[in-house]
Amino acid sequence: MEQMWGEQIVKLRPEDAVRGQLFNDGNYAMFIHWGPYSNLANEVDGKTYYGIGEWIMHPRMAGIPVDDYKQRAASFNPVAFDAEEIAQLAKDAGMKYIVITSKHHDGFAMYRSKADDFNIVDATSFDRDPMRELAAACKKFGIGFGFYYSHNQDWTFPGGGGGPETDAAGQTADFDDYFKTKCLPQVKEITTQYGAIEIVWFDTPGKMPKEYVEQLVAVIRKNQPNALISGRAGHNLGDYQTLGDMDVPMRNVHGMWESVDTSNDSWAYAWYDEYWKSPQEILRRLIACIGRGGTYMLNLGVRGDGSVPLRAARTLRAAGAWISRYPQVVYATDASPWQHALPWGDVTCKGNTLYLSVLQWPASSTLYLPGFKGDIVATRLLRGEESESISCKKERNWIRFELPPQAPETWVSIIEVELYSAPQVDSTWGLDPEFCTEIQAEFAVVNNATKDSVRWMEKFGEWKHVTRVHQWQTQGEAVWEVDVLVPGDYQVDLTYAGEGRLVWGVGIKGGEHIQNEQNSSHNYQTFPIGLIGFPSPGRYEVGVHCIDGNLEMGSLQSIHFTRAQW
Ligand code: GLC
Repeated sequence: MEQMWGEQIVKLRPEDAVRGQLFNDGNYAMFIHWGPYSNLANEVDGKTYYGIGEWIMHPRMAGIPVDDYKQRAASFNPVAFDAEEIAQLAKDAGMKYIVITSKHHDGFAMYRSKADDFNIVDATSFDRDPMRELAAACKKFGIGFGFYYSHNQDWTFPGGGGGPETDAAGQTADFDDYFKTKCLPQVKEITTQYGAIEIVWFDTPGKMPKEYVEQLVAVIRKNQPNALISGRAGHNLGDYQTLGDMDVPMRNVHGMWESVDTSNDSWAYAWYDEYWKSPQEILRRLIACIGRGGTYMLNLGVRGDGSVPLRAARTLRAAGAWISRYPQVVYATDASPWQHALPWGDVTCKGNTLYLSVLQWPASSTLYLPGFKGDIVATRLLRGEESESISCKKERNWIRFELPPQAPETWVSIIEVELYSAPQVDSTWGLDPEFCTEIQAEFAVVNNATKDSVRWMEKFGEWKHVTRVHQWQTQGEAVWEVDVLVPGDYQVDLTYAGEGRLVWGVGIKGGEHIQNEQNSSHNYQTFPIGLIGFPSPGRYEVGVHCIDGNLEMGSLQSIHFTRAQW
């Protein structure tokens, strides 16, 4: 029976899917950023600009004037574009649909548009509509298809968000002009000319007034009643929530949502950007998103000539080959009852079955699962379609699995745990007896200090997120409840940023207190504090205090516990 639904989802074709099913059950999609900016590939007149390539014309990157950008766009000629190759790649990668930029902030339409001639057919010598080709290829390969459309920002059309304020005749143009002459007609085009689409993915609504978004939504509901509308439509008019760029959340998120992520650092192709995520990292992030209750959409930056960067194809296919061996872990599975990742991996769940995704194989051959309450029918270690039964023992509320010395898989091995009833779990963090347990400040209860989340850009547009505890007062503390299975000494490390030397204290309520002085920098780094002893198995409260130094700036991200096995 279990295999049955797995099979159905693996084969699920867009035309058989109910509204939102590819999103909800498919759990994994391909995002594509592709346009004339891909041709520049982050280099303008011999100078390289680091950051997200589709923003290249913006003053925060190369600052290319509109006429100049239009001239450069004219030489965009992606003769190596092969729609079937891309659809095949998405299929091999295990992705269930593709969302591609029909028009990004630069205003260039990647399809034949009657509404505006700044498009790939009228403004370049490339006499093809690649979106038509891709829509057809997706249909052929059984992959869903959707469009990204930048509805608010349009940097080249008069009146568009961030665009020129006057038209060619020197007349003032406002957002309403842009909306009526370009945005609305183009959204009509993309929702009528390419068959059934899965999603219309709006982005960066900014201060766009509600009535405009409402009109766009009405057009989509009429033309594509089965399409979803992304959360970034604005004014809560989308069908689901899109998290911040590159944000894989730490704890479960309710409702229907997606994470959008890059396979290297830029969305659009950038010539220098060879920092590709490994297959294991892709799988980790995918499983983390599903485990937190969401969908993962991973970007591919197609090159200016239309070809796919080889390393991107290689890593996506390698991750996809793994998914094809374990589709039941990824498709139509739900959030982890633990509500967060575990030291060795993560969990997805379907009915009474848990799939433990083990990313780090224990050298001791024992794997520990904390906070477990249910009754187990069977536990199996999967080897593709084969499986072997493994033994496990319950000790307090922990399960100990006895595993063979060798992991069956290089990146992620799967233990299937079948239960008598729906899983019941205590999500308190357990200190793993074998692996380092890193607990984020996000999970701490904080007194007399500030806990908040910040986002910043590493390179331009490369977003990082952290929840931290900072602005410590004298009695300030961040406290975590932890469960200890194996008593004894644990090495404590802290990850933090700050200014100058800081003195940190770590104390067990009713037990040992240790403290140490370490340096700090504006980057989050991990520093050792020392050993602390948990005298017996059970629950403890562990508190961290910033004792001395610049308490305002001391910014704690996480605490790590590693059992001293000596
Ligand atoms: C952003 C950027 C953009 C990119 C997008 C992907 O909001 O403006 O360039 O397309 O996120 O999620």
